[in-house]
Amino acid sequence: MIFAANFKMNHTRVSTWNYVHDLRDRMVEAGVEHEVYVFPPASALMGAHRPVVVGAQNAYPAMQGAFTGEIGMEQLDEFGIHTLLIGHSERRMLLGESQEKVAEKYAFFKARNYEIIYCVGEPIEVREQGDAAVEAYLLEELEGIDIHYGRLIVAYEPIWAIGTGRTATPEAIASTHAMLRRHIEAPLLYGGSVNPANIEEIAAVENVDGVLVGGASLEVDSFFEMMTKV
Ligand code: 13P
Repeated sequence: MIFAANFKMNHTRVSTWNYVHDLRDRMVEAGVEHEVYVFPPASALMGAHRPVVVGAQNAYPAMQGAFTGEIGMEQLDEFGIHTLLIGHSERRMLLGESQEKVAEKYAFFKARNYEIIYCVGEPIEVREQGDAAVEAYLLEELEGIDIHYGRLIVAYEPIWAIGTGRTATPEAIASTHAMLRRHIEAPLLYGGSVNPANIEEIAAVENVDGVLVGGASLEVDSFFEMMTKV
């Protein structure tokens, strides 16, 4: 299984360093074989190798330049970061990232062989319209994205399940992942209120190759507990 921790705007440089080392020690000691990623804030990026891969939550599609507030490849290279989240709904909705911009980022980092966790997910109004509407929405979020890229992982995160404690039902996850699987060969992650209490149920769903976890990843205890349950 793939376990990815999205810290969002939580944790500091020091707490991230402690977290990653603690997690690595626990994984090695327990012989955990999962593929594990941690995405800290940009200010806490650090070099880290397997079994814990550190990635960036965002980057601008340029080496460096006049892009106030952004980080580019030069800043990622300093830490040997080659893994990136692209298309998270919080960046799309709160920071106004258009599909065009998301696709531009994807193409830039794909051309440089980055590993990309690419996020899609529908708002509640679309979910309420049924499966066909969800499929159309998610396919729009894949517009301009080369889904055959070998270093792609896709994360399905229904927006209404993020940070709400309201996980999609196993049936809804199964049908959405089956639909995505008809289009995409890449590993598929589910995200949205995943926690130690529901990980077994979610991990057992067909076509769920891993999880992308926000809130329940912030403490090593709970992120690690999930790994030991599946
Ligand atoms: P929560 O696990 O807090 O719902 O967040 C999910 C998420 O957005 C991960 O990217």
